[in-house]
Parts: sequence; C-alpha cells; structure tokens
Amino acid sequence: MNTYATVVLAAGKGTRMRSALPKVLHQLAGAPLLAHVLKAIEALPLSFPSLDTHLFSHRPVVVLGYGAAQIEAAFAERCLYALQHEQLGTGHALLAAQSVVEVLDPVPQTVLVCYGDMPLITSETLARVLVEHLTQHAAITFLTAYTQQPSDFGRVVRDVSGRVREIVEVRRATEEQKRINEINSGVYCFDREWLWPTLQALPRNFAGEYYLTDLIATASAQGRVITTVQGTVDETIGVNDRVQLATAEQVLRRRVLERHMYGGVTIVDPATTYIDDDVRIDRDTVILPGTMISGKTTIGAACRLGPGTAIEQSVLGNRCIVRNSMLEEAILEDDVSVGPFSHCRPGTHLAQGVRMGNFAEVKNSYVGAQTDMHHFSYLGDATVGEHVNVGAGTITCNYDGVRKNHTTIGAHAFIGSDTLLVAPVTVGEHAHTGAGTVVRHDVAPGALVVGAPARFLRMIESPEHVSAEDGK
Ligand code: UD1
Ligand code: CA
Repeated sequence: MNTYATVVLAAGKGTRMRSALPKVLHQLAGAPLLAHVLKAIEALPLSFPSLDTHLFSHRPVVVLGYGAAQIEAAFAERCLYALQHEQLGTGHALLAAQSVVEVLDPVPQTVLVCYGDMPLITSETLARVLVEHLTQHAAITFLTAYTQQPSDFGRVVRDVSGRVREIVEVRRATEEQKRINEINSGVYCFDREWLWPTLQALPRNFAGEYYLTDLIATASAQGRVITTVQGTVDETIGVNDRVQLATAEQVLRRRVLERHMYGGVTIVDPATTYIDDDVRIDRDTVILPGTMISGKTTIGAACRLGPGTAIEQSVLGNRCIVRNSMLEEAILEDDVSVGPFSHCRPGTHLAQGVRMGNFAEVKNSYVGAQTDMHHFSYLGDATVGEHVNVGAGTITCNYDGVRKNHTTIGAHAFIGSDTLLVAPVTVGEHAHTGAGTVVRHDVAPGALVVGAPARFLRMIESPEHVSAEDGK
C-alpha cells in the first residue's frame, strides 16, 4: 500500500487582496477559496488502474498563519492544521507541516502539496500528478502549464535536452526567462525521504525567504528524477488579487453551468446565470436569464426558474415555476408556482401545488397543498391548511410590537380580500371571512365572519358558498 498526505499552504495574508479577510476565506462561487482546493483533494480516488497498489490518504494538512483561528474555525475537523508563525516563504511553510505529517499513522511516503489560492484545481489533475510521481519513482513531480501570458507565475527552466533545471520566480527572472511560457502551477509531489532533509537544508534565497520552488534546482543538481505533468492554464489560476478572483469566478461559473447543461438542464443565457458550485438541479429544468441560484440549493426536474430570480439555500420539488422572485431558505414541494414579484423568506414551506402569485410574501410559515395566494398578501408565522384561498391583500398581523404571534388557518378556509388576521388567532376549517374583515378572535370552523372587528354572520354549509367580493 502506498500512503500519501496532502499539504495545503495557506498561511499568507494575501497582501495583494488588500483585505482584512485572510485570502483563502474569500468567496468563489459561494464557497471560500480553500474549500474548493479541499474539495478537489477529498475527491481523489484511492485506486488507479495504472497503479497496482491501493493508496491510503490522510486528512489534508493545512498550513496556517495569518488569520489562523478564523480559518480553523471555518474548516474545523475537515483538516489537520500546522502553524507557520512567521511567513518566510512557501518552502518554510511546507517545513512547518513536517511535524504534523510525520506523526500520521501510517507515515506517508509521498507528500502532495498545493496552494490554498488555486481554487480551480481539479481532482483529475491532482491524480495525474500523483500517479506520474509514483510510476516514475521521482523525487519531485510538479504541474506545469503553457500560456501566452505567464504574468506573475514562476517560469520552468529546462536545459537543451528538455530536462527541468529550475523554477525561476518572475522577480529574479532574466528578460529571456520571462519569455518562457511554461509556468509553475503550484502542485507538487515529493518523496518524503528526500523532501524533509533537503527542505531543512534549503538556504534563504535572494528575497531572504525559503522558496519551495528552489527545491527543483537542488534536485536537479543532485541528479534526482524530476518529472512534470502538464495541466491547463484555467485550473492553474492562482488568486493573488481581486482581478484574478473575478477571473477565477468566471472560469468556475462556466464550469458549473456546463456541468448542469451536460446533465440535462437548459440554461438560456449562461452569461447572466449564476449558479453556486454546490447547487443540484435535476434534468429538464429550464433556467431563464438573470437568475442566481446559491448555497446548497436542490432543484427538481422540469422546473422553470426566472427570469430575474434569486434562489438561496432552498429545496424545490419537480415542475415548480418561479418568476421574477426571491426564495431564501425555502421549501417548495412539487408543482408550486411563485411570482412574479414575490418573496419567500426563511422558513417558508409551500406544499404541493401551492400558487403564490404577485407581490406576496411568506415567512416562517407552512402553506398546505393546493392553497392559493394570488395577490398582495403577507403570511408570517402561520400554519395554513390545504385548499385555502388567501384573498388579495390578506395580512397576518403577526407582530404586536413585542413578540411574533402565530396564525392558524384551517383547510378549505376562505379568507376574503383585505382580511387582517391579528395574531395569535385561529380560523377554523371551512370558515369564511368577508372582504375587509379584521379578525381579532378565533373563528369557528364553518363560520362566516365580516366587518371590523369581525362579527359572526352565519354558518357556511359548504365550501362552495363563496361570496363574489372575494377576489381570486
Ligand atoms: C507561487 C510560486 C510560483 C507559482 C505560483 C502559482 C513560490 C515561491 N512561487 O507564487 O512559482 O507560479 O505560486 O500560483 O512558491 N504561503 C504560506 N506561507 C508563506 C508564503 C506563502 O503559507 O510564507 C502560501 C500562501 O498563503 C499561498 C501559497 O502559499 O496560498 C502561495 O503563495 P503566494 O505568495 O501566493 O505565491 P505566488 O507569488 O503566487
Ligand atoms: Ca499565489
């Protein structure tokens, strides 16, 4: 069995971000940069067709420094942590992980290293680096990419026969070296036995720091095996500043959209559609322009969402329609329609077939199956039964200035236009309220109440007795 450990370097402040927030906590498609890197690591398979041994991996070791407590709080048990007290370069950062890596059981023979600011790296590419390393029995294997705009990346210097000689950081590169368009992506595999003593012996460089990249020249001088794997520039994007953050966002967004499109989701205008990485969408759902779906949202099949819609952290069943509306922490069962211009706030649960129309708001409420709420209404802290008609302009007066009070509306009730339900209050099943009623006391099942304050008028025999003044 081969064992490896992964080390993610994330101790830097990210000075070029000009931010109080540690760089790796900046958000990309709804998750911090570091979360994307961890996700790629965690998705690494443990067996490969080309290797005859199984791999064993440990939880990733993350090297922290600036904002360590904040980052550790965000990722908790997901990783192991090492502390780099002073940021003296990427080589120094890796050395800070040694004491944590060496006490892992079993001790890893291979150390896979990547940077916390490369959120677009994929598990497929990490796997290629790992497999190449193990099959070549190399001291170092690292990922490179070719680009016409090598910008601030380290350049890969090779000799005439193509063997890697060193990685030169741009600050130290000659004009000729700056023209090299093979860059260092920032993913490395090291043979553990070679790595630690060599890293300990690494001298400070021109910048007074210890660069991980200087290990390449050392290995080359010792005649050790160095291999490279070629990746794409896209997954190499290192986020050093906010311009690169926006570039990464664009690449990731496109990647997410393509995954959904290949998975059977129609996205009418990818340029104006924003979907977070953790969103799940079932097939034949159509997403119209100007739609943003974020958080851990799950959407069923054959829904129609948008245009101009924002859905956060919600669960939608099949065949839902949401137009020009906003959903936050809401649950919509199958066949629910919302909008245009409505708002489901946290705690909204709309059961099967609910129709919530224009300019309506629901908060912290359960609305039963097939209930209609077509125009200008507010339901807050309410439990509404099935087949209820919530007339235009109905309001639950849930807040008395001190506390939020509950409203209960029984199944098949008919709430007339402009009814004010002064909570706490219960309207019984099959009860009716006339237009403009102000309900301050409970209404018995089957009763019709009218006026302000509400007074009992008569009993309704069946739910078909619906007065014409109740808007629908
Ligand atoms: C680094 C590489 C460069 C490569 C590029 C790829 C070095 C010296 N250079 O440059 O060859 O092309 O990444 O994106 O490695 N960090 C620490 N402690 C430190 C310094 C850095 O943990 O003392 C962490 C940072 O938090 C960051 C990562 O290491 O996540 C890379 O550091 P950064 O300063 O971004 O290196 P680059 O200049 O991008
Ligand atoms: Ca970087």
